[in-house]
Amino acid sequence: MEVTNKIVIITGAGSGIGKATAIHFAKYGATVVVSDINLESAQKVVDEIATNKGKAFAIKANVAKFEDVENLINTTVEKFGSLDVIVNNAGIGPNLLKTHESLLKDWDRVIAVNQTGVFYCMKVALQQFLKQGYGNIVNIASLAGLKASPSNISYSASKFAVVGMTKSAAMEYATKNIRVNAVCPGYTESALLDQLLNAKPEMDAVLKSVIPMKRYGKTSEIAEAVVWLASDSTKFITGQTITLDGGTSL
Ligand SMILES: NC(=O)c1ccc[n+]([C@@H]2O[C@H](COP(=O)([O-])OP(=O)(O)OC[C@H]3O[C@@H](n4cnc5c(N)ncnc54)[C@H](O)[C@@H]3O)[C@@H](O)[C@H]2O)c1
Repeated sequence: MEVTNKIVIITGAGSGIGKATAIHFAKYGATVVVSDINLESAQKVVDEIATNKGKAFAIKANVAKFEDVENLINTTVEKFGSLDVIVNNAGIGPNLLKTHESLLKDWDRVIAVNQTGVFYCMKVALQQFLKQGYGNIVNIASLAGLKASPSNISYSASKFAVVGMTKSAAMEYATKNIRVNAVCPGYTESALLDQLLNAKPEMDAVLKSVIPMKRYGKTSEIAEAVVWLASDSTKFITGQTITLDGGTSL
């Protein structure tokens, strides 16, 4: 996959899908800006990449804060001269309450990170992409952005929004050499899934029963698709959602 020497920002890359994606990009020769709200975990990923002779750099950013997002993208461009790809991955999980029981603060928190955070990153990255005449956005949405997701209203709303922003922006910038796509993972082994299974252990059997492959996804499997969408192998793909769910959506 051709991503050699591309400058790539990944948000929420200290853990899970973001971490695996950072490691994959570095393996394929990209220079990776590993960003997370938790600088310590981002730095650990950078150290792991460096041990394997990859190129990576950590920047702390809370995607729900516009000034952090501006700092993340401006610092990257100052340091490396351009930005080829941004992977908008940072996201937080469901609260498992029915809609009428939902807490307003949970709604605000999830929307701020999963939806507004993606908008902030797209807005600032697109300004840079227009200046340089090219760019590539890969948003991490979810199966919950395509299908119903009960007891999950804020997460569901945020992920449908990510799919909508992906498609709308793809049309806006299609003639500008800027592509915008999304991946929609199903249940994938990560801290986010652990959080759900720790709260409701009985869900393990229930979830596996609805996955035709009878297993959860691996973060590396999601990462492969992200790198592919960001690579020069997919130059005619824009505005698409790629679902990686072991067949769950069937
Ligand atoms: N794991 C799954 O089953 C699954 C399924 C579908 C979609 N997703 C999506 O994949 C993405 C990654 O999730 P994951 O499963 O790897 O979870 P994870 O909890 O392992 O990783 C999320 C990372 O995001 C960081 N983060 C949280 N809030 C942040 C903020 N405000 N700013 C910057 N970073 C922040 C965390 O510190 C963490 O490192 C999320 O957008 C999630 O919604 C996950």
